[in-house]
Amino acid sequence: MKHTHIIGLGGYLPEQILHNKDLPAALETSDAWIRERTGIEQRHIAAEGQFTSDLATAAAKQALEDAGLTIDDIDAIIVATTTPDMVFPSTASIVQFKLGATSIPAWDIQAVCSGFVYGLAQVDGMMRGGMFERVLLIGAERMSHILDWSDRSTCVLFGDGAGAVVLEYRDDGTEHGVIGSTLHADGAYRDLLMANHAQRNQVIPGFGGQNAPDLRLDSAGVAAVEMRGNEVFRTAVKQLGAVVDEVLELHGLTHNDLDHLIPHQANLRIIQATAKKLKMSLDHVAVTVNKHANTSAASVPLAMHALYQQNAFKAGDLLLLEAFGAGFVWGANLVRWSKQ
Ligand code: ACO
Repeated sequence: MKHTHIIGLGGYLPEQILHNKDLPAALETSDAWIRERTGIEQRHIAAEGQFTSDLATAAAKQALEDAGLTIDDIDAIIVATTTPDMVFPSTASIVQFKLGATSIPAWDIQAVCSGFVYGLAQVDGMMRGGMFERVLLIGAERMSHILDWSDRSTCVLFGDGAGAVVLEYRDDGTEHGVIGSTLHADGAYRDLLMANHAQRNQVIPGFGGQNAPDLRLDSAGVAAVEMRGNEVFRTAVKQLGAVVDEVLELHGLTHNDLDHLIPHQANLRIIQATAKKLKMSLDHVAVTVNKHANTSAASVPLAMHALYQQNAFKAGDLLLLEAFGAGFVWGANLVRWSKQ
């Protein structure tokens, strides 16, 4: 039977690393506070002039190389991002151009931190419906550009980066590949976490990069993530606990069947809570939040890529991907690893 397989992976992190200890003194924060509350030690920050599409293109090139393919072999490009280069055209269109493709469809998904999980569910559904055989799915963010660098309660939490996978719909004689997905949203929580430029009476022509005013680490910021952290934390733990149960039950599986948890990387304590619920030791959980911070839609593919680079997966392993983000939107995918 045909299944959606991950056949190539790539990840890109900007060169510049910002350690907790190098955060501006005016923030009145500390390495100890950030580590203790979040597990974050550092984050990568895109260079001036380096846009979300650049990060996405770099990760995509790696994924294609890893799959042994070129862009000519790909049927569609999807970019999950909440920091597009500009409001329109889509970042996926820009990536398509930068990769040298023509004619194949390209579009963005906006599901904030859950963008990659939503994207994988979408591609799997479209492949099962016969639309595509090979798709490039990318999660890419330049979060540093939408932060208020004078707000210590949010700016310390995020970082920039991109992760990409090449997905192929094929029959490899096994039951490996994407097993299924579960997605949710609840707009009643829309005010708890947002980047609301309109309310601040600001015009952001390209909030992820192009044409946006330069933001410096000591600036008051022109755009800002606003968050009621405690409530986000509580809801994330609750809904992630429920969604992992739901997706396992839907496919007749239990936590005992899992080999790896690939969680969204927002906060080590949220990750630990989900791992505890699944009775999984942290040895079987991808943790990159310490090095990457929260890269929103890029966090799940980057975390999966990090484990892949360590040869952590073997054919037949069961992976559970999960994410939670602003909206709120959340979801999970079950994948039986097939790549050698
Ligand atoms: N450094 C030092 N002190 C700080 C900082 C900081 N960076 N940030 C906040 N504080 C202070 C606050 O001002 C507050 O001081 P007060 O008691 O004098 O008023 C105190 O620390 C406690 O603040 P809380 O917000 O209650 O701290 P909490 O323990 O909840 O931790 C945190 C805050 C880390 C944001 C936590 O709530 C959290 O991780 N929430 C999840 C949100 C998240 O990860 N969002 C990302 C996007 S959504 C997602 O991806 C899941």
